[in-house]
Amino acid sequence: MGTRRDVSSYASGPSYYSVHETNQAAAYLYPNDADEKERLEFQHKLLKDVLHGRNYLAPFSKARPPKKVLDVGTGTGTWAIEMGDEFPSAEIVGVDLSPIQAELVPPNVHFFIDDWYAAMQSQACLWFSWVGNLG
Ligand SMILES: C[S@@+](CC[C@H](N)C(=O)[O-])C[C@H]1O[C@@H](n2cnc3c(N)ncnc32)[C@H](O)[C@@H]1O
Repeated sequence: MGTRRDVSSYASGPSYYSVHETNQAAAYLYPNDADEKERLEFQHKLLKDVLHGRNYLAPFSKARPPKKVLDVGTGTGTWAIEMGDEFPSAEIVGVDLSPIQAELVPPNVHFFIDDWYAAMQSQACLWFSWVGNLG
C-alpha cells in the first residue's frame, strides 16, 4: 500500500483527492474539504444510529475480537478509530485516496493513502473488510 500524500498544494478552489491524478481508475468526484468531512461524520453517525449504536453486525465481542480489520474508503477514519478503541488487540487498517484522517489515533490503527482497487490485490483481502459508503 502507499503512504500519506500531501494535498496542501491545492492552493486555490475546492480541495480534491490526490491519488486519482496518477491513476484514472481511482477518480472520485467529491471534494475532501471541511464541508465534506462534516458530511462524512454525519453520515457515520446516521449509519450507527440505524445499527443501534453498533459499528458492525459481525459476531464480534470483547471475548471474540477480530484480528485484522480493513476499512476500505475510510474517509475521516472515524469508523476505524472507533473499532481500534473497541478492539485494542486487533490491527485496524484504513485505506483512502485522500489524507483526511485524524493524526492522533489508537496505536493499533494505521491509515494508508492508496487506490483500493490496486491494494485489493494484496493479502489485505483476507481481512475482515468494511466498505462504508464507498462512492
Ligand atoms: C462516501 S465516503 C465514505 C467514507 C467512510 N467510509 C464513511 O462511511 O464515512 C467514500 C470514501 O471512499 C474513498 N474512495 C473512493 N474510491 C476509492 C478508491 N478507489 N480507493 C480508496 N478509497 C476510495 C473516498 O476518498 C471517500 O473518502
